[in-house]
Amino acid sequence: MQTQIKRIDENSVAEAKEILLSGGVVAIPTETVYGLGGNAFDDTAVQKIFAVKGRPADNPLIAHVHTDYDLSKIIDYDTEIAKKLRAAFLPGPLTLVYPSTGKVSKYVSCGLNTLAVRVPSHAGAQALLKAVNLPVVAPSANLSRHVSPTSAKHVYDDFSGRIPLILDGGEAIGGIESTVCDVSGEVPVILRPGLITKEQIAAVCGDCLVYEHKGEKQVKSPGVLYKHYSPRCETALFTTVAQAVEECERLRQDKRVGILCESKWLDRFVGVVCYDLGKTPEEMATRLYAALRKAEEECDLLIAIKPEQRGGVMDGVLNRLEKACTSKDVAH
Ligand code: TXA
Ligand code: MG
Repeated sequence: MQTQIKRIDENSVAEAKEILLSGGVVAIPTETVYGLGGNAFDDTAVQKIFAVKGRPADNPLIAHVHTDYDLSKIIDYDTEIAKKLRAAFLPGPLTLVYPSTGKVSKYVSCGLNTLAVRVPSHAGAQALLKAVNLPVVAPSANLSRHVSPTSAKHVYDDFSGRIPLILDGGEAIGGIESTVCDVSGEVPVILRPGLITKEQIAAVCGDCLVYEHKGEKQVKSPGVLYKHYSPRCETALFTTVAQAVEECERLRQDKRVGILCESKWLDRFVGVVCYDLGKTPEEMATRLYAALRKAEEECDLLIAIKPEQRGGVMDGVLNRLEKACTSKDVAH
């Protein structure tokens, strides 16, 4: 199969619509990262997404819909906090997990009695979703465990020859995936941190909890278990610049060492490639995945330094950085 990259416009949207309606998968841009889309009602299309990505069969997918989509077609139970959060943040990088099942393909939620729904703000994504007027499930368009894609080229690098079409909507400016938030109870619970922050959600709903996986068998959001976002080079993560400098000096004669850090540490390193995450948490979110993908091409070892700020968007950036540079698969 030949994989085409086409700028997103009326013609390419029409082509993508045909593919989706006939059970195929198409890569689509969103404001967070690129997604690998398929018709959420179509068992075969949903299974195809799992197969193409190599995604574990117990990691559920997010259904994407356009701004005017009638939610009652896919969820059978709405909640007060969901209404508030939709009004405050959608369309945008916030996925809401509803206590609902049964309307989309059974493969979407992998046996959980919930459905995750997202309304992306990217104009190209909206145009496609409006054209099909269907919920489109779309995990990040990377091979399972690999770094998420923020450009059409990243998607091509992972799926060339395996999908027919990539809609190119430019660089994904958000840079990290949406915040996933369970809205089934009275208090929202963040399952995956992202660009809509705990602080912002608490300001709208009065409170906001953050789910932590403590080894229990029934996991609320299986995605939290897996090794993720990982570049194909070796990685090491340090909390201080002094440790990173020492490790870099020790290893740089034998290996192609790269440094990933916020701008202020760059001048501490000489003779090695540096990937500049920028200064603000938002900048770091935008740049992180592209830097990890570049590093895996250019380095044997990537040494990352944890940024110092905490809270807000930084929670999402640190979550991705830690998973990319340290996490191991949890056997289960
Ligand atoms: O920004 C995003 O959300 C991107 C773009 C493409 O929209 N999509 C994305 O999808 O990140 P994916 O499949 O890579 O991550 C989905 C996350 C996983 O952590 C998964 O476990 C969680 O959402 N999830 C999906 N359905 C869920 C459900 N019913 N309950 C709890 N967690 C769910
Ligand atoms: Mg993903």
